[in-house]
Amino acid sequence: MKHFIAISDYSAQELKEMLDLAIFLKREHQSGGNKPVLKGKVLAMVFQKPSLRTRVSFDMAMRHLGGDALYLSPAEIGLGKREAISDIARVLSGYVEAIMARVFDHQHVIELAKWSSVPVINGLSNYNHPCQALADALTIYEKFGTLKGLNVSYVGDGNNVAVSLMHICAKLGANFTIANPKGYDLPEQAINLAEQFAQESQSKLTFLHDPLQAVKKANVIYTDTWTSMGQEEEMEQRLKVFPPYQVNAQLVAEADRDVIVMHCLPAHRGQEITDEVADGPHSALFPQAHNRLHAQKAILVKLMS
Ligand code: CP
Ligand code: NVA
Repeated sequence: MKHFIAISDYSAQELKEMLDLAIFLKREHQSGGNKPVLKGKVLAMVFQKPSLRTRVSFDMAMRHLGGDALYLSPAEIGLGKREAISDIARVLSGYVEAIMARVFDHQHVIELAKWSSVPVINGLSNYNHPCQALADALTIYEKFGTLKGLNVSYVGDGNNVAVSLMHICAKLGANFTIANPKGYDLPEQAINLAEQFAQESQSKLTFLHDPLQAVKKANVIYTDTWTSMGQEEEMEQRLKVFPPYQVNAQLVAEADRDVIVMHCLPAHRGQEITDEVADGPHSALFPQAHNRLHAQKAILVKLMS
């Protein structure tokens, strides 16, 4: 049994296999429907934070695969508050075949996995967002036919989404560049891991503060919110620091002419991305969001069948 807690836990080969499976399941779904390979199986979805994509795509993925999903809201479980995580993990393991959890503290999803006897999937923590990264890699692969040698430039906060994106790029051979404001860097521990992966795949990592410099030659420009869930108290300060990092038409014009623009969503239009770019010809935002469904099916099938 294996969990899906971080991209860094998986080898490049395993990630490629997961992408191949996602492509297969997407085609199967589009040509009449998936086989019910998870018939009779249930995924518990534990949420400490709000969600549209993660909640609906996991739920629909389970239905398409013949199984079912159970939504447990932040008010219901009280992870580590109403009840110890070790107890929750052991209780849920007797009821369901897998657990997906969206948490604040990354240690909480690790703790769930430690005590659970069924697979645990990380549906976002403060440290990373591996399900998003797998869907992102699928989207990039579909647009360019490979990740190897592509230039992926992330502009904005060195946050959870950026960590998983950097790791999947470094694993699969894409050159990853980030431009973030000073003081909003990626965690050092995540950078250290990425450096190992980049060495293995012979890709490049570049850490900058200048967005214009970062997007030169970019095949992909990626951005995310300036204030992640749980950082609401910092919003006022962040709104002062981040405006030079907006992905707007002027910035996109600096990149490769066939550049695609990505955003995990939800977008704060007018802040990290303009309407013009989000709805413009370079935008991959909605195929990217839809790929959550297909990428997560691959995770579910690998872990649950
Ligand atoms: N991108 C993403 O995880 O979206 P949700 O927060 O809506 O699940
Ligand atoms: N970085 C964002 C991603 C939301 C999907 C957050 O954590 O709020």
